[in-house]
Amino acid sequence: MKPQVLVVDDDDANRVTLERILNRAGFDVSHAASGREAMEKFRDRPVDLVLTDLKMPGMSGIDLLKAAKVVDPAIEVVVMTAYGTVETAVEAMKEGAYDFVAKPLKRLELTTVLDKALEKRHLLLENKRLREQLAEVGEGDIIGNSQVMRGLLDEVEQVAPSDATVLLSGESGTGKGRLARAIHQMSARRDRRLVTVNCAAIPESLLESELFGYERGAFTGATGRKEGRFDLARGGTLFLDEITEMKPAIQVRLLRVLQDGEYERVGGTETLQADCRVIAATNRDIEEEVAAGRFRADLYYRLNVVPIRVPSLRERSDDIPLLAQHFLVRFVRKNRKDLAGFTPEAIDALCAWKWPGNVRELENAIERAVVLCRGDRVDVGDLPPQMRDATSGRKALSFEVGTPLKIVEKQMITETLRYCNGDKNLTASLLGITARTLYRREAEWRDEGIG
Ligand SMILES: Nc1ncnc2c1ncn2[C@@H]1O[C@H](COP(=O)(O)OP(=O)(O)OP(=O)(O)O)[C@@H](O)[C@H]1O
Ligand SMILES: [Mg+2]
Repeated sequence: MKPQVLVVDDDDANRVTLERILNRAGFDVSHAASGREAMEKFRDRPVDLVLTDLKMPGMSGIDLLKAAKVVDPAIEVVVMTAYGTVETAVEAMKEGAYDFVAKPLKRLELTTVLDKALEKRHLLLENKRLREQLAEVGEGDIIGNSQVMRGLLDEVEQVAPSDATVLLSGESGTGKGRLARAIHQMSARRDRRLVTVNCAAIPESLLESELFGYERGAFTGATGRKEGRFDLARGGTLFLDEITEMKPAIQVRLLRVLQDGEYERVGGTETLQADCRVIAATNRDIEEEVAAGRFRADLYYRLNVVPIRVPSLRERSDDIPLLAQHFLVRFVRKNRKDLAGFTPEAIDALCAWKWPGNVRELENAIERAVVLCRGDRVDVGDLPPQMRDATSGRKALSFEVGTPLKIVEKQMITETLRYCNGDKNLTASLLGITARTLYRREAEWRDEGIG
């Protein structure tokens, strides 16, 4: 398929010339005489490149550039500049134009620039495709748009490409495991293995040989050499989960590898070189463990090169709707359900809950809701009972000094009505007014339009 170029110029003769040149150079050309017309064409039919004049009546080339980038962020735009419009050309570059060509146009220069722009577009599209594939697998992508998470992801992006040891801390279920994977995948070691060792899950007596491997005859039953996790992770990343559960004897050995990069297999004499990036994680207060003498201070310092604290879900409740949606999509697919989303009440209930189990708890709650849901949207009733009750608690209202009483009154009545599920008699009796007063107020608000 030929690459598609959209030529935009208000000068008819120019368009015709350009079309001829570009056709000959192997492009499929469409054209538009104004920015507006260009946008119409652009929406109708996919275009790879836009070649546009800058100065046009109505929508300028820059405006067109911006609009086109909104519709297709991977579009490449080349602008044509006449003598004396260099400043505008610079502005166009700042707005994301690929390049500019000066009028009068030279055939070779033009086709060279367009070929390069096309190359860039293909690269962008290929990257996008890869990203989408990755998202498909769900591996390593971290959902979260709250300010804290964006800050954290910036930090992760910074440290990921280095070989620096990272210490992840945070409550259970906050996503430390997922972040460790993300860091690995953003690093130069991504094509090698990410090897995980859960220090809490492996008995003390086995952890050493698990980590470093053993030689034949190291102990009864060691009938051959076995590689350890440090061997397996060579060239890649070693993720030491629940690091505080590691017993002192092994902490010493780990310290040595981190310090000198050397280790021996259990029962072995050969000194091996470690080559792995280490990421450690804990959901305990590791400094407390150090203070209590359960965790070696020197090892702690070795691990704590880049400390990253993963916030609890309570601290980033802005992320709850986004995460809920993400899990919904996943479980809808898995369970072959036909569900469009959440009711506003369900989202309110999710946001009100304190999530002691963090993202893992949210993930489980959404899976359960998707399985239970009989309607076309997840509703409060589909959520675990404790969450349903969380919103039915009595909400506290607060007002600034000097707030007009009418507004205070309206909000108080509205919230009480909501609390009473719209029962006006109950609302009136809770507020110490008659139901008639309540109706009268509602009529007044309608008339006055108090908001
Ligand atoms: N930001 C996120 N975006 C998408 N999924 C997430 C995110 N954070 C966590 N999850 C998912 O939530 C679940 C819990 O995360 P994870 O296992 O990484 O937590 P953890 O902090 O390692 O917990 P623990 O301390 O109990 O090991 C996983 O299924 C993970 O994929
Ligand atoms: Mg984990």
